[in-house]
Amino acid sequence: MPAIESVLHERRVFPPSAAASANAAIFGMDAYRALVAEAERDYEGFWARLARETLEWRKPFSSVLDASDAPFYKWFADGELNVSYNCLDRQVQNGNAEKTAIIFEADDGAVTTVTYRELLQRVCEFANALRSRGVKKGERIVIYMPMSIEGIVAMQACARIGATHSVVFGGFSAKSLNERIADASAVAVITADEQMRGGRAIPLKNIADEALAMGGCDTVKDVIVYRRSGGKVAWNEARDLWWHELTENQPGTCEPEWVGAEHPLYILYTSGSTGKPKGVQHSSGGYLLWAALTMKWVFDLKPKDVFWCTADIGWVTGHTYIAYGPTAVGATQIMFEGTPTYPHAGRFWEMIGRHGVTVFYTAPTAIRSLIKLSAAEPRVQPKRFDLSSLRIIGTVGEPINPEAWIWYYENVGGGRCPVVDTWWQTETGGQMISPLPGATPLVPGSCTLPLPGIMATVVDDAGAEVPPGEGGMLVVKKPWPAMLRTIWGDPERFKRTYFPAELGGQVYLAGDGAVRDKDTGYFTIVGRIDDVLNVSGHRLGTMEIESALVANPDVAEAAAVGRPDETTGEAVVAFVVLKRKRPEGDEATQIADELRAWVAKEIGPFAKPKEIRFGENLPKTRSGKIMRRLLRSLAKGEAITQDVSTLENAAILDQLGESR
Ligand code: WTA
Repeated sequence: MPAIESVLHERRVFPPSAAASANAAIFGMDAYRALVAEAERDYEGFWARLARETLEWRKPFSSVLDASDAPFYKWFADGELNVSYNCLDRQVQNGNAEKTAIIFEADDGAVTTVTYRELLQRVCEFANALRSRGVKKGERIVIYMPMSIEGIVAMQACARIGATHSVVFGGFSAKSLNERIADASAVAVITADEQMRGGRAIPLKNIADEALAMGGCDTVKDVIVYRRSGGKVAWNEARDLWWHELTENQPGTCEPEWVGAEHPLYILYTSGSTGKPKGVQHSSGGYLLWAALTMKWVFDLKPKDVFWCTADIGWVTGHTYIAYGPTAVGATQIMFEGTPTYPHAGRFWEMIGRHGVTVFYTAPTAIRSLIKLSAAEPRVQPKRFDLSSLRIIGTVGEPINPEAWIWYYENVGGGRCPVVDTWWQTETGGQMISPLPGATPLVPGSCTLPLPGIMATVVDDAGAEVPPGEGGMLVVKKPWPAMLRTIWGDPERFKRTYFPAELGGQVYLAGDGAVRDKDTGYFTIVGRIDDVLNVSGHRLGTMEIESALVANPDVAEAAAVGRPDETTGEAVVAFVVLKRKRPEGDEATQIADELRAWVAKEIGPFAKPKEIRFGENLPKTRSGKIMRRLLRSLAKGEAITQDVSTLENAAILDQLGESR
């Protein structure tokens, strides 16, 4: 766990600005406390009220929380609804039909927009197309798509017919895609010919072909291909279908499949502490409730806002704050295909000005890299662009260091926009701990206080709450509607991972370390407590990287650890023992490059170790366990303070300590 002192040195407090708090959904700390008190007084009543006010139910629920099979909690279980109906039909019926739903800006700057009426029509056409292919309620569909309006259409169309989608980030390799398709037993894969990012084309269809050829994907009957670039693709007549041909003659209306609130809306794979990614399964009713509510509470979304979340639909942030949350509240949102540095590192700021973005949500990594780039190149500094439309700015995915927070607040927010530093996870479905822009005094580096209804606290190894000021494990004491329901196909792992017996089996274990401030009770997240790394806001299991490395025929053994990195938050350092002689000099550099490329092929380019060091051996305890703490110290270049008397070959410390 990183030292707590290092993240708590920023003590300045920034009160909510008058501009931000005027008409805020939750205005002032008294309003916040009143909601917190309501949830404490009558937990189920609180959630039932919000679920009735926020969503439209086909069949009203009578049961609120069903804990009879804990920790497999159910929410609003006898209620029925449809997620896509709640997001789209409701907008069309409520006077938002001609409102712009999505402003899509392509990598090359071309802009396309759709209204809510058009979006609904396209979702219906595609939903009908899926039905025409025989897709049924509850079947799984893997979506391997670029950032595109069609990506949202595909997700919402699945929701419309009750199919469970599993979106796989376009940066994942064929092998990772294969594992996810096989684990979900998907009946169809939706992809595109190519994905355009930073002026480069990534051949998604070819990668999907490769994934399907790897075996274990016999359940897949159709591959539906959206033509994005017109790039050349191989074609399998028996299996492949063009999106535009399939939807051509489909009716523009489609009766939704009414599903129970617990019906699995999606599965999203994420990294855990073993090699195999976990299929986090989310519900329909509870999930959508929280997606919509947090849009209103945390982003204070109003009808005239222009919302922009820069995440990819392949990650949970893109599910909750692109595909579902914004549409559920009838927002106009920006969707961006490209990267923040193409064609120049002022692209984000330029786009905020061009589209009049009012609420902006991005990752600390992006902020840190843009700080660096704009220091080198004044032309791309935020002050060169018109950012006056902004009123709220947010971050997600990793801790934001106070320096980056202050830069963001001053340079992007112009000192007038509250920064909502939102803590949450794939598993939580939506934001959990976050400032409210019209209420919470901000402290840089702290995600401040749990949202109303979220019973977060910090406990020790035995599950006892620790006093403020002391570090411990972040837990949530009560189930909440948007929580994951299980791990797809592995309920035992769900129980063991999130409701461990060591903590009494009752509380949700987040996997993060946290500390609360003595005076304010504010939470600061101090990093993961398990073997999960956070590189540029992407979750990576050290075991995943190790399995990828040892799958290489030249590698005998490997251990991966994280090291703090100025830009990416954490960076992966891998220690490798080859089956042949330990390489040195140029040979070592060359093999390290080959292994980095290997990891990119096994998992995806974002998982490449920043550094690879070779040893004749790895440091192990007498019982043969790899001494990871020691490796972490070596990766950081720290002096070794651990007891190394049990090491058989102490010379390897010199070998592994050498940074090349
Ligand atoms: C980290 C992303 C500090 C944390 C939504 C968590 C954060 C993991 C924050 C989940 C934050 C996310 N401050 N750390 N504001 N937000 N994290 O599943 O370690 O991709 O457990 O979900 O990111 O990552 P995931």
